[in-house]
Amino acid sequence: MTDASSPPHLDQAGFERIRQRVHQATGHRLADTRLGVVAGRLHSRLQHHGLSSFEAYLELVDAQPGEQALLLSLLIARDTYFFREHRHFEHLLRWLAGIGHRPRLWSAACATGEEAWSLAMVADQGAPGGWEVLASDYDDCLLQQARTGLYDVNQARYFPPGWVSRYCLCGAEQTAGRLRIAAGLREGVRFENINLIRPLPEHLGAFDAILLRNLLAGFDERCKADVLLRLMPHLRPGGLLMIGHSESIHRLDLPLRPILPSVFERL
Ligand SMILES: C[S@@+](CC[C@H](N)C(=O)[O-])C[C@H]1O[C@@H](n2cnc3c(N)ncnc32)[C@H](O)[C@@H]1O
Repeated sequence: MTDASSPPHLDQAGFERIRQRVHQATGHRLADTRLGVVAGRLHSRLQHHGLSSFEAYLELVDAQPGEQALLLSLLIARDTYFFREHRHFEHLLRWLAGIGHRPRLWSAACATGEEAWSLAMVADQGAPGGWEVLASDYDDCLLQQARTGLYDVNQARYFPPGWVSRYCLCGAEQTAGRLRIAAGLREGVRFENINLIRPLPEHLGAFDAILLRNLLAGFDERCKADVLLRLMPHLRPGGLLMIGHSESIHRLDLPLRPILPSVFERL
């Protein structure tokens, strides 16, 4: 008997099909041990469509292009918050003060935008003469949220003292309990859908710093190397690459030298 609150059985073949889809779309490799987690996370989609088997669900994913985006959104990590791994931002603030030109900065897997807006605030402080931030992700839904610049007021706890009042407005009426990123900051931030496992758009140009944080752990070594090699022409010599504190790229042969934990300088 099937309990409606637990997912139907996902067999190994079904799991492999899901894994392949996730890998082809994002470069992420779901570990062998994730079968139960995948079944649990996708259960809500089966319930939504009134389906009782993963086979039927996978047929539906094949038939309805929009469903794959929802599947991915349930399986790919998107957790983030303002000034996450704050030492990176502290370093950038000092570094930008000596840069001598208008910096271009890229949050290359920006999720719901907290990283990109944090970068913009740091740029505004460190390079008051002007700056540019590109915020990208492969997921349009996340980019849409990022663009709104609206966040729960609880996020204020991650901000350096005084920065909430400087860079955010407190919502009223429909947006009560929310922070809204102020207009002055919005002018410098551009959002774009970029899937890092595909060829990069030609117009990108070179950046002074690229934040590629908390997504590499999901890639195998080959995919990691491909993504990083694709980014290298877009990081100017002397520019900075920042990865997540728990991520590693030391086995890859790249024109980078480590200068701090998880911070690299382009040679
Ligand atoms: C855990 S979040 C990290 C967000 C932010 N960088 C941080 O460190 O807080 C990982 C993000 O990587 C994005 N991502 C995963 N694979 C990607 C790919 N192939 N191309 C672009 N973005 C990707 C996800 O959509 C998600 O928003």
